[in-house]
Parts: sequence; C-alpha cells; structure tokens
Amino acid sequence: MFIDTHAHLTDKAFAGREEEILQNAKDCLVEKVITSGFDLASSKEAIDFARKHDGVYASIGFYPEFVQDYTVETEEKLKNLAKDKKVVAIGEIGLQYTDGMPERELQKEVFLKQLNLVYQLEKPVVLHCRDAYGDMIKLLKGNKDLLVFGGTFHCFSGSHEIAIEAIKLGFYISIGGVSTFKNATNVREVLKNVPLERMLLETDCPYLAPHPYRGKINEPKYIPTIAENLAVLKGVDVETVAKITTENARRLFKI
Ligand code: NI
Repeated sequence: MFIDTHAHLTDKAFAGREEEILQNAKDCLVEKVITSGFDLASSKEAIDFARKHDGVYASIGFYPEFVQDYTVETEEKLKNLAKDKKVVAIGEIGLQYTDGMPERELQKEVFLKQLNLVYQLEKPVVLHCRDAYGDMIKLLKGNKDLLVFGGTFHCFSGSHEIAIEAIKLGFYISIGGVSTFKNATNVREVLKNVPLERMLLETDCPYLAPHPYRGKINEPKYIPTIAENLAVLKGVDVETVAKITTENARRLFKI
C-alpha cells in the first residue's frame, strides 16, 4: 500500500467528486491521504473532510502567502483545531521568496512562531520552501530544539547540499510529480543520493500531476506513478518503494 502524505482534497478542483477521488485512490492501493490546509479556513475544512473519511488525515497551518493573517487570535484558534485526533501535522508552513509574496521578515517571524507551535503541540512539521532554502536551513539549524517531533520537506526541489542538511536535521524528503518531469534532471540527480529510508511520497494534488499526466488534475491515484519512477531511479522494485515510504510516513505521522 501507499500513503499520499500531502494533498489538497478540499480544493475546488475536486468539488462534488470527493468520494470518486478517494475510491480511485483505494483502487490504486493509496490507502491513506493527508490533506493539507494553508490558512485558518482551509485548515478547518481539511479537518472536517478528514473526520468524514476513513484513512484521511489533516495537516494545518499558515502557508507563507497568508502570514499576514497570523495573529494572537488565529494562533489560538489553530491550537484549538490541532486538538482534533485527525490532525497529524502542522503545515504546510515555511518560506517562499518569489515575487508578490509577503515580506521576508514577516514570513520568517510567522514561520518561527509556527515552529514553536509544532513543539508545543508535539506534532511533526510539513515544510514548504521555494527559493528560500538558505534561510530555511539557517532557521531550522538555529531552532533544532523545536524540531524533536520531526518533519518533512514537502515537494523538495533543493540542491544536493540542502538535502544533506535536511537529512542531518532529521527531516524526510517528500517526492511528488515534479520528480517525473522530463526537464527535472537536477531533482532526480539529488534524489539518487537520498536514501529511501528518508523519503515520503506525495501528490500535492490537484497540482503537479506526474508525467505522463502533466497538466491534468492531479489525484492521489497517481502516487504509484511517482513510486514507479522513483523505483527505476533507485534501482529497486516498486514494492520496495511502497513498503519503505509507507513505513516512513507511519513513523513520522503516527498513522
Ligand atoms: Ni501543497
């Protein structure tokens, strides 16, 4: 079996098709899915969805784009939401230094506040990082004490050096559809040197469908496609990829 460790099942792309999407996943041996929020409202939706469906869990937090909404009040609300048994992680949270995003200092400040929350709540963290790996590693290294419950770099796209640093810090590296893209040779080179014991599988659906479905609506059912690609890259069979990545996800998220 497989676990999709990062999806957005409450996205409007799936509206009205949720049951079908989950059945498709089961038919492809994807038996557990962690659906992720990105602000307070979507975190609530993720929990509601998880409560209604066996095998679905929630991850909650404020994504870099929405850090302006992180206040004393919303933090308190997030803490309360995290008490739900279906909440298995805090995330996706992190840093994104692309145009149009909130200023870097605010992103770092809110990221650090949420890392404190991760520690208080005794949950693993799901990291989002884009064009900000230097600051991300610096912040994580400076706050190792807050990371005792582990975590993962969702949709990893960093360099070999960053992967080594992430693993040293005890993180997992999550592999999604990007690793199958024809032009993603750099990502594949990096993954060759990451042990399977440090990897998780994810779709990040509805975004980033793997090759040959690139551009279509992504779904958890494509996890085996990502796993097959990884199996070829690592020179093992797909069952080995399934077994090890599932054990990793179970260990990290306690599911
Ligand atoms: Ni995501």
